[in-house]
Amino acid sequence: MNLTSNLIESCRAQFPALKRQENGQPVVFFDGPAGTQVPICVPEAMTNYLLGCNSNLHGQFGTSAESDELLIQCHQAHANFVNAGSGNEIAFGQNMTSLTFAFSRALAKTWNQGDEILVTALDHDANIAPWMLAAADAGVNVQFVDFRPDDLMLDMEDLQNKLNHRTRLVAVGCASNATGGINPIKRITEMAHSVDAHVFLDAVHYGPHGLIDVAEWDCDFLVCSNYKFFGPHLGMLWGRPELMEPLSPYKVRPASNNIPDKWMTGTQSHESIVGGMACIDYLAGIGKTISDNNKLNRRESLKIAFEAIVEYERVLSAKLIDGLSAIEGLQIIGIQDKAQITERFPTFSIRHEGIPSEQLARELGQQGIYVWNGNYYAFEFSTRMGFEPDGMVRIGLVHYNTMDEIERLIETLEAIVSREATQ
Ligand SMILES: Cc1ncc(COP(=O)(O)O)c(C=O)c1O
Repeated sequence: MNLTSNLIESCRAQFPALKRQENGQPVVFFDGPAGTQVPICVPEAMTNYLLGCNSNLHGQFGTSAESDELLIQCHQAHANFVNAGSGNEIAFGQNMTSLTFAFSRALAKTWNQGDEILVTALDHDANIAPWMLAAADAGVNVQFVDFRPDDLMLDMEDLQNKLNHRTRLVAVGCASNATGGINPIKRITEMAHSVDAHVFLDAVHYGPHGLIDVAEWDCDFLVCSNYKFFGPHLGMLWGRPELMEPLSPYKVRPASNNIPDKWMTGTQSHESIVGGMACIDYLAGIGKTISDNNKLNRRESLKIAFEAIVEYERVLSAKLIDGLSAIEGLQIIGIQDKAQITERFPTFSIRHEGIPSEQLARELGQQGIYVWNGNYYAFEFSTRMGFEPDGMVRIGLVHYNTMDEIERLIETLEAIVSREATQ
């Protein structure tokens, strides 16, 4: 079952932002890895909440009781999204970074001097810096797992060599926001567990492209951000309840000591959490449409949706690789061999030998093609690659992007590159 062009069009029709024009042309949103656009059901759910039932929780009156009930449903929806056992295993927060800082401080209290933790040179700094700072406070060593020089994928041999009986944690991304490379998550958890280390997964870049499955991956903790998968600005943290319960996060005294509430400091953005459920149900809706079965449960629907999204995005990736490879002086960073396409998501960083990344992104932006430039906080990677301070240009596709948009990008890039060559 796949995403037909009719279905893509019906998805696109749900995103009002995709109607935006720049200089008389439709805008191409290739900036998804920094935050996707949202389907109309997301702001509608948020508005309905704010206008109809806005309240703090646990009060003795109607809107508060309704908020309590709605929030329970939201926890459940997010549990379905990551395949957690119950809604209580999901904590919300402002974003992945804030949740990781709070979580790392609490987890570090369980470490002893001389322990080690592993982070990777491929990760976003939000899955590196919080661990380095917590480790420094706890007197714990931090080791960096490298990436392979050829295809820039995580070096699993290096991971194996660095894991040892002192390793307490492996903090690793599910997929790189710089190269699009997908890490072998299940293998990583098996390797870490063989030395009794825990695994903390950053699923932020994975969320819009693949089905997250904490049960199948057998990981211990996972963070994600809804604004990367068609939702509002919101972060979520999942952890195995038996590991989360004994931890003591920094919190105010009257707040609950139970999961998930002890992680959710202060009053949450209820409207964002409600919008978070709406974006999950948008994705589940794709699965229901494809299977033509409205009765499928949310998890089953998500599974079907992501099978189709993965397949469609691989076709987009293949076309983009062909187009980019033919442009003189352009380097694709990461996997470009189509035989390895299953190991990457459609996030492509590029560099041109003669055109600074900022200029390239600006010129594309002026022509209505929105891409990101810089290091996108994959700072360790960009530094080790020698890309600083120019960074890279990131073309990030999601399922609402089309083959026509890729053709427009390639034509525009060719025109920019050939103009520069003749100057
Ligand atoms: C892979 C990855 N991890 C973590 C983050 C940080 O997420 P947040 O903005 O929710 O803190 C990002 C944001 O770009 C990301 O791409």
